[in-house]
Amino acid sequence: MEFEDLIKNDKKLLQHPYDSSISPSDTFPIKRAEGEFLYLYDNKPLIDGMSSWWCVIHGYNNNFINDALKKQIERMSHIMFGGLTHEPAVNLAENLNEIIKGRFDKFFYCDSGSVAVEVAVKMAFQYQMGKGNKKRNKILSFKGAYHGDTFMAMSLCDPVNSMHKDFGGVLHNNIFAPRPKSDFFEKYNNDHLETAALLEENAENIAAVIIEPVVQGAGGMWFYHPEFLNKIKSLCDYYDILLIFDEIATGFGRTGKMFAFEYSNITPDIICLGKAITGGYMSFAAVGTTKNIMDRVCSPKGPGAFMHGPTFMANPLACECANASIRLLKQMELSKTLSGIQKIISNYFSEASEFPFVKDVRILGGIGVIETFEDVNIKTLTDKFIKRGVWVRPFKNLVYIMPPYIISEKSLKKLCKSVLDGLWEDFSKK
Ligand SMILES: Cc1ncc(COP(=O)(O)O)c(C=O)c1O
Repeated sequence: MEFEDLIKNDKKLLQHPYDSSISPSDTFPIKRAEGEFLYLYDNKPLIDGMSSWWCVIHGYNNNFINDALKKQIERMSHIMFGGLTHEPAVNLAENLNEIIKGRFDKFFYCDSGSVAVEVAVKMAFQYQMGKGNKKRNKILSFKGAYHGDTFMAMSLCDPVNSMHKDFGGVLHNNIFAPRPKSDFFEKYNNDHLETAALLEENAENIAAVIIEPVVQGAGGMWFYHPEFLNKIKSLCDYYDILLIFDEIATGFGRTGKMFAFEYSNITPDIICLGKAITGGYMSFAAVGTTKNIMDRVCSPKGPGAFMHGPTFMANPLACECANASIRLLKQMELSKTLSGIQKIISNYFSEASEFPFVKDVRILGGIGVIETFEDVNIKTLTDKFIKRGVWVRPFKNLVYIMPPYIISEKSLKKLCKSVLDGLWEDFSKK
């Protein structure tokens, strides 16, 4: 398709995420992608600073994942998972169990992060039904949280500052605690006390607590102290409330450890995994828990079986993709790679702290965040980034990068410098 037709038909026929159909934003057609580069139609390369929303950790067009997929396509692309099973699914459960160090031994596969959150919450409700706690039909979540765009997931996002505030009237009524504020790198400041009070007051109605461990992502890109997680786990155990960690964004190395919960001393009861699970190749997610919890979920006191079953769950192509991605992660020196990325981002982004329009700079593992006082102009800033050959998609007052782990040192330095230069140029013109 010619470039002009693509642009015209895209505008005419497609609805892009979080965008208006009345005045749609510009989109940039990408012809192909390779390694850390996205190629525009005129073959101009853009260094991808977003890993396509945290997913493409091994880069685009990765030979190892391509080969695994090609082999799997010839065996079978899809079969239903009700009553049938297959090797890629079982291998993946073994692989996940291994990289989570045996802490979860029961996995449920689904299609996307938001659906994984739905599944985890349903597990928690069924668990409480299994214990005869039928009144426990609320979830405690945190201000600043983001858990996805489906209805239960929306009802767990920050109720005031999220994209979902407009849906208040139709959402499940959950309970919100203040977000943990102690900085990841500083002293812990008893942030859990307000959550403790809310749990004490509402325990009879709460089935589970859900939290993004260590990094609250799309709700504000906040990094907080892992001690908070230890404290919340003790509280949950005390009240027999399940603890769900949403590692959809943080899982598979992004924060510098394979899973962000490894910064704490505890293991959650349920974990949601998605995004980078397939190395960013396919939409797929997994929910992990223990056999003990799953037995309670399936207790005859409740429905007697786990009542969920998406058509494409355990899709063999996606499972095989995930197996290949995990194999690559295991071959990689993950913490060394991520600390190398963190160091380069820090070297560059520390300069941004001096910019008069910058409120805060936060860096952890493969995530670099620049928070400005005022919201950025997404269009003008994106244009400045594209002009410099990088793809970074800011939102509100946050300009952040989370590059693929395979990014070369040269590309990472160019990415960081382009972010600083683009920001400076855009804000100094205001
Ligand atoms: C922490 C977290 N949970 C859930 C989701 C939803 O995942 P998906 O977009 O795959 O539905 C996201 C997506 O950004 C996320 O960051």
